[in-house]
Amino acid sequence: MTDTWQVEPSEPLRGDIRVRGSKNAVTKHMVAAMLTGMPSTIRNAPEVGDVDITTAMLESIGYHVGRSGDEITVEPGTSVEPRVPEAFTGLNRIPILMLGPLLHRTGEAFVPLVGGDPIGRRPVDFHVSVLQALGAEVEVGPAGISARATRLHGARIDLPYPSVGATETVLLSAVLAEGKTVLRGAATEPEVVELALFLQRMGAHIELSPDRRIVIEGVPRLRGASTTLAGDRIEAFSYLVAGLITAGEVRVHGCPQDRLVTAITTLARMGAQFDITDDWIRASAPDALRPAAVHTDTHPGFMTDWQQPLMVLFTQADGMSVLHETVFENRLVYVPALQSMGCEIEVFRACLGGPACRFHDTNATHSAVIRGVSKLRGADVTLPDVRAGFSAVLAAAVADRPSTLRGIHHIERGYHRPFDQFTSLGLTLRRG
Ligand code: UD1
Repeated sequence: MTDTWQVEPSEPLRGDIRVRGSKNAVTKHMVAAMLTGMPSTIRNAPEVGDVDITTAMLESIGYHVGRSGDEITVEPGTSVEPRVPEAFTGLNRIPILMLGPLLHRTGEAFVPLVGGDPIGRRPVDFHVSVLQALGAEVEVGPAGISARATRLHGARIDLPYPSVGATETVLLSAVLAEGKTVLRGAATEPEVVELALFLQRMGAHIELSPDRRIVIEGVPRLRGASTTLAGDRIEAFSYLVAGLITAGEVRVHGCPQDRLVTAITTLARMGAQFDITDDWIRASAPDALRPAAVHTDTHPGFMTDWQQPLMVLFTQADGMSVLHETVFENRLVYVPALQSMGCEIEVFRACLGGPACRFHDTNATHSAVIRGVSKLRGADVTLPDVRAGFSAVLAAAVADRPSTLRGIHHIERGYHRPFDQFTSLGLTLRRG
């Protein structure tokens, strides 16, 4: 299928969108299912490229992955292969999370170098330290990471930064380790908690304590479990913004309000009006949107994956806005693509719009000042990553002439059927 979309300037986008479980949760649940000899089922799974990649990885090492509608079943075959093939190098962030489960299953593991979006150095040093603390011998080589351990054992672990991935490595490795693991500095993102709940259903002993502390008492074995994923807060926010940017009105079903508290308040400060029920959230902006100063943060702060649609929304707000990215040092690399579409954005190394962050005395370009209201123009743009890709569609929707967006697989890696969702809201799109 073609990797390019032609996007026409849009009338106000209106309608209903149902979001499924998130890319950032479903793939981790699939890895958790590696920890038992029994089948596990994940429902409300999105149809996203990352599920296809993770499915292929699991099948390559001996798991059966069944898919039917929104349901994914993971079941081990007769033997589990400890090496994830190098063919999966650089495709996403999932292989690093497989190290712990593979060690439990086979005593050894190799995973190829991880990829994901080019939004910072994205090192894996925390993951490596976690596994070493739990007693694994780990070697980082040019092609990937090898690890070995006859049995992992509980440890006290302090994360230097509340990393989502490293917290997940602790969860996925400590649940079957011998003895108690105490993690301090844990990430508390909803997708992390969702994974912990799934592991608890599998029989894991996990305590989520205050102050970013997680205590895990290792158990000898886990059983299969099933769960229904909660709706994706990134998709929900992105489509609410799609309505606001085009002066339309989108109603998003399937994402609990408590996953969007900071997002809703931020948009409300800019002048958006919300109707919220137990089933759906609707945003509209009867008057011109106001500018804002926003810094991204760990949960429950303003999520770093929300800043790309917000950036385009800022270009349509009346005045100067400021965005300060504090989670990934290089997450503004997509700005040139938006500038080529007429977005008036200037980037800075200084910490603007919020407290000084970890990157304040580095060369990281991580703040932006955005002028609105800008007249956007259609352009031929190559998408750099999943979230930035979605924001380019939003810019194309409010541009003065058609745009050609290349690299649509980035969007399809993380958003459920985006072509159909956008079309249902009234955006005129053509593949090719
Ligand atoms: C996950 C999400 C991503 C989201 C991010 C933060 C997935 C697949 N991706 O990414 O969409 O934006 O959480 O909510 O779930 N770090 C290190 N060393 C490490 C690991 C991380 O220095 O070993 C740093 C990173 O460079 C970054 C920060 O920690 O600056 C946060 O990264 P992390 O929370 O680990 O993000 P991911 O799990 O990769």
